[in-house]
Amino acid sequence: MNAAPAVEAIDLVKHFGETRAVDGVSFVVPEGSVLGLLGPNGAGKTSLVRMLTTLSVPTSGTGRVAGFDILRQPTEVRRSLGLTGQAATVDEILTGRENLKLIGSLYGLPRTFVREATERLFARFDLTDAADRMAKTYSGGMRRRLDLAVSLLAAPPILFLDEPTTGLDPQSRSGLWAVLRELVSEGTTLVLTTQYLEEADHLADEIVVVDKGRVIAAGTPTQLKDQAGRASVVVTLTHAADLDRAAELMNSCCQEVHVERGSRRLTAQAGGLGDMTRIAAVFETSGIELDDLGLARPSLDDVFLHLTGHRAEDASDLTNEGVTP
Ligand SMILES: Nc1ncnc2c1ncn2[C@@H]1O[C@H](COP(=O)(O)OP(=O)(O)OP(=O)(O)O)[C@@H](O)[C@H]1O
Ligand SMILES: [Mg+2]
Repeated sequence: MNAAPAVEAIDLVKHFGETRAVDGVSFVVPEGSVLGLLGPNGAGKTSLVRMLTTLSVPTSGTGRVAGFDILRQPTEVRRSLGLTGQAATVDEILTGRENLKLIGSLYGLPRTFVREATERLFARFDLTDAADRMAKTYSGGMRRRLDLAVSLLAAPPILFLDEPTTGLDPQSRSGLWAVLRELVSEGTTLVLTTQYLEEADHLADEIVVVDKGRVIAAGTPTQLKDQAGRASVVVTLTHAADLDRAAELMNSCCQEVHVERGSRRLTAQAGGLGDMTRIAAVFETSGIELDDLGLARPSLDDVFLHLTGHRAEDASDLTNEGVTP
């Protein structure tokens, strides 16, 4: 793509004491395209977004948004972007409509413009019926959509979305994806963070994978998935006692065999269904009892395993940290 860069991260660094939240990240997002920042909990995604949207000052490095320097021209930068943060920012005791009115007056937007834009956005986000209800009565998906409507009120050419669909059910998620694709088709540049490879896959033109504050891979979804390995065969044993023998069998016929003892699972790289049939045959003759045998498409976990040689850390104890109120 030859479009002018809408967003540039230039060797961005953010340290919190000993924590290197962002440790030298650079990327370019061409105008009218979608960048997916993909990474597990604590990867540094929010820290990156906060620096690029001028909410936090980099330890070093800089960035440009719509051609404006985030350090020297923060006002111009803010005028060019909309941001939907990770935690909902809507005012709970205001109605949907009042939330937009409030933001409109904070931005100093003309009242008739705000009224018209509100109707348009609510129609688009399927919120018209709920417009006069207090936001605290909204479902998670509705709040997310209201959040997005708020960010879009001033029609920013560049939109930052921090985990826009985390916590949404699959239906609300695909509804939101459709809206985002529509925005992009109208020329909006999107930078979105996500923990879901599938989401990045659906929406992003380019994906930057971050882990521990660093870029560990970048490319189109297809390039990344090819790098991250093809599908894998997943075998779940009935008896943990068979794990070693099963591992030996799989090693004799497959590549990249991994054993997960706790779940009695073995995975191996697979080219397709043929490999699965072959493995099924091997187990059939071995007498090892299986609970399950299947093909799995590459997940974010697999991307990590491939890129770093280790599974993304189990972040379950981090998940609740400061994310949900
Ligand atoms: N204000 C802060 N003070 C101290 N440490 C922080 C602060 N903000 C973030 N961190 C740390 O920086 C690292 C990166 O955090 P960040 O929130 O950017 O990650 P993330 O990729 O957005 O994670 P998540 O997917 O959970 O939202 C983490 O180790 C986090 O604990
Ligand atoms: Mg975050």
